[in-house]
Amino acid sequence: MTWHKAAIFGSSGGIGAALVADLADRGVKVFAGSRAGEGPDRPGVTPFRFDFDDERTIATAAENWRDDPPDLVIVASGVLTLADGTGPERSLKSIDAEAMARVLHVNTIGPALVAKHALPLFARNAPATFAAISARVGSISDNRIGGWHSYRASKAALNMLLRNFAIELGRTHKQAIVAGLHPGTVDTPLSAPFQSNLPEGQLTSPEESAASMLRVLEGLSPEGSGQVFDYKGERVPE
Ligand SMILES: NC(=O)c1ccc[n+]([C@@H]2O[C@H](COP(=O)([O-])OP(=O)(O)OC[C@H]3O[C@@H](n4cnc5c(N)ncnc54)[C@H](OP(=O)(O)O)[C@@H]3O)[C@@H](O)[C@H]2O)c1
Repeated sequence: MTWHKAAIFGSSGGIGAALVADLADRGVKVFAGSRAGEGPDRPGVTPFRFDFDDERTIATAAENWRDDPPDLVIVASGVLTLADGTGPERSLKSIDAEAMARVLHVNTIGPALVAKHALPLFARNAPATFAAISARVGSISDNRIGGWHSYRASKAALNMLLRNFAIELGRTHKQAIVAGLHPGTVDTPLSAPFQSNLPEGQLTSPEESAASMLRVLEGLSPEGSGQVFDYKGERVPE
């Protein structure tokens, strides 16, 4: 499908910025959302401010789009290492209630709040896509090495919510699609501390990842709604 208008939550991130640029290059009008509310200064891109710590900012953004809503909404925000430097847990003993709550707040509850306010804007009888950047490590059946307790749990829970939203939206919006996306291992500030042991050629640029994920989304049909796909278009197991 071709989109007319997109809203990207997390446009200040490596992947979010690349999604904004790719869509703008195609002539799609883009609302670019970040906590600073500053977007790239280029034609067709309108920055907006939102913060998962203040639901009203998300409600206000959606309210402003009511008359001419986006037909593509992507949540590209997320955390692995917290702002205070707390990294992902390697063992049970490093579980900290506050840090875990923060990761779940940003990675799971944040996208749910965006869905709450953005999905009702979709037209009932036209194609529309809602996607959130998840991660392969959110797959329960694919988990062989453990660790990263909060991050894995936050993405597994996100995947469950995406399935729920797909079911609920599918009752009224037959052409709508809700999907999770695994972007690959992408060269961004989020992955930077964990890149040293990567096999040669495994690190993707944000631009390549964004282009691949948009290709995957374009190829989806409503039958695929509620699932998680990697950047190659392959299903990530539950
Ligand atoms: N990079 C990878 O290899 C990789 C692999 C698998 C999955 N992912 C997923 O891809 C997504 C994007 O990651 P990235 O690599 O592009 O990371 P990034 O460059 O660190 O960007 C993270 C984004 O999340 C936003 N964010 C963080 N906390 C927020 C909050 N409380 N409210 C609103 N926005 C908040 C940041 O906004 P501020 O600028 O305001 O902080 C930034 O835009 C994440 O969901 C991540 O889990 C990434």
